[in-house]
Formats: sequence, structure tokens, C-alpha cells
Amino acid sequence: MTECSTSTNNFLNMLTKQSLYGAPLAGVTTPSFRNIVRLFFDGLIYTEMISVEGLRRNGPATMIFLKTNENDSPLGVQLFGSKPDGYTDSIPVVLGKLTPAVIDINMGCPVKKVLKSGSGCAMMKDELNIARVINAAKKAAGDIPLTIKIRLGWDLNSMNYNEIIKIAHEEGACAVTLHGRTKADHFSGTVRYEYIADAVSRAKLPIIGNGDVIDMETYDNMLKTGVSGVMIGRGMMKKPWIFEALLNRTDPDTYLKADRLKELVYKIMDLEQANARGSRYLDVSKKYIVWMMKGLPGAASLRSQIYACQDRAELDVMIEDFFNSIRDIQTDQSSE
Ligand SMILES: Cc1cc2nc3c(=O)[nH]c(=O)nc-3n(C[C@H](O)[C@H](O)[C@H](O)COP(=O)(O)O)c2cc1C
Repeated sequence: MTECSTSTNNFLNMLTKQSLYGAPLAGVTTPSFRNIVRLFFDGLIYTEMISVEGLRRNGPATMIFLKTNENDSPLGVQLFGSKPDGYTDSIPVVLGKLTPAVIDINMGCPVKKVLKSGSGCAMMKDELNIARVINAAKKAAGDIPLTIKIRLGWDLNSMNYNEIIKIAHEEGACAVTLHGRTKADHFSGTVRYEYIADAVSRAKLPIIGNGDVIDMETYDNMLKTGVSGVMIGRGMMKKPWIFEALLNRTDPDTYLKADRLKELVYKIMDLEQANARGSRYLDVSKKYIVWMMKGLPGAASLRSQIYACQDRAELDVMIEDFFNSIRDIQTDQSSE
């Protein structure tokens, strides 16, 4: 067994200090979006998944994923790829650009394109290769803590999460994030808490629970499994303030006042404009804006107008008008 060094202790300290984690979300956890989340959260946020094959070739389209903004820490870098030597070659490329708090290996992505290359969930079918991959990654990562992110298994008949967690421990990973679904579940149904609790009861390393945490009830349900930490994906995507709300034991749906939300909407556009990977910053910003405004009165009908708008000045006016109308509604309600 490879021993974890001080890196483990640093990571474990982080686990006790902050039980929440921002999940890796492809197409979402860009540097700008991470900046928005960090206004409400001083814990670990992961990058989008990054191809080890792209990194080892120094491919420009992949290297862009290592870009960070100021104050983007602590940062977890998530890698995907099925070959051990992919990690041997790519981790030094990562460490040449960044000093992440953690490096994570994606073994839980169910997307066809990723599975086709033998990566993501497909890795869970070959435990020997998992051991080789973690071993190679661990050697390359040195003192940087290494974690893996898995699902329960390929399907309900082949749930091998306990075996994989054991391998992760033996090969020197510091923690395992477990999304309580199988590959076959994709994102359907609800998260299977009972298997997460089972993993926690058998594991010799910390388990970070993941899946469907969107409010106090689901957060508490996940904590009841005994996990050392909780990772949030879609809840963060729609409500970047979710961490602060949960840590204050407040409902994320009503946590943010409309004025603050308006500020955030402008901020994400400014950040995307300043840091966009290309000129389509407005299109990228729109999806965040629509997610953040979801549920507000009138937001559903504004959605198509937002998507159709091609001009920042026009969008600014649209948003200003929208929030003025929200303020009027709130003023009317409070004077009733
Ligand atoms: C848009 C989107 C992108 C995702 N990208 C990644 C990714 O890059 N790496 C990864 O391990 N999981 C990825 N996931 C899975 C999430 O990290 C998380 O495991 C899953 O959404 C369940 O957690 P949640 O219910 O809190 O969202 C993605 C999920 C979504 C919805």
C-alpha cells in the first residue's frame, strides 16, 4: 500500500473544516463560474473534467481548461482517461501550470463519448486497470492529494463500489466521491442513500457523498449516511449561493434577495466577457442567467427573449426591467 503523506492530512483537515464540495461540471465550472460560487463559499471547487490525452499532447483546446482566475482556490483538478501512462504524462503538465489542492480521477461519467474511449464509468468494469491508473496517478501527483469519483457500479447487478473503494485505499487515494447512482441510472430516479451508507460503513478512507443535494432536507439526508463530505453539482449550477445557504441552515430557494441576484447576473456577464474562451461570451452567460433566475415570477417567459438577444446593452435593459418588476411585486406583497 502506498502511504498518503502530509497531503492526506491537508485533505482530511479540509474535510473536517468544510463538509461541502463544488462538483466538477463539464461546460459549467469554468473559472468565471467558480468565481461566482466563491463569493459564497471558501471550500473546494473542481474544474470541468479534463482529458489526460489532450493534456499529454499539450493540445491547445485542452490546455485552456487549466486556466484560472485570481482567487480561484482551493481548486480541484479533475482528469479523465483510461490509460495509466496518460496520468503519468499529464499530471506533470497540470503541475507545471497549477498547484491544485486535489487531483481527481473521473470514473463516474456516463456520457457515451467518454465511455467509448474506455473512460468515465467504463473504468469501473476493469478493477485491475483502476489499480494501475491510481498507482500511476499517485506517483505523478507526489504530495498533491489524489481522489477518485465513482458511481455505485455499471448497473444494479454489478455494483462494485466497495471493491473500487478498497482499491483506492490500497493504492493511496485520499478519499472517494460516490455518486449514489449506477451508470444505468444515468440521472434518473433518486439517489440511493442506502448504498452510500453501506460504502461509508466499510470504507477505510473518507467518502464524499454526491447526488441530488439541493436543499436542507436532501443535505441532511446525505449527512445521515455518515459521509465525511458532501459534493453538490446541479444544486450549485442553479444556485451558486447554495453552500452559504446550507451552512446557515437556510432554504437556498429564498436565500438571495432579488437585488443581490441582479448583481450576480451582471457579474457573471462581466466575468465571462473578460475571461471567455472566445467571443461567444454572451451565449455562455445566458445559460447561467436563466438557471439563476429560474423560479422567479415571470422568469419562464423571459427565457426565450434572453436566448434570442444578441446584444449586451439590450440584455442589460431586459434584466433591469425584469428586476424592477420583481421589486414592484415584492413591494406590493410586503404592503398587503
Ligand atoms: C452539466 C453536468 C456536467 C457534469 N460534468 C461532470 C464532470 O465533468 N465530471 C464529473 O465527474 N461529473 C460530472 N457531472 C456529474 C456531477 O459532478 C455529479 O456527480 C452529478 O450531477 C450528481 O450530483 P448532483 O445531483 O449534485 O448534480 C456532470 C453533471 C452535469 C449535470
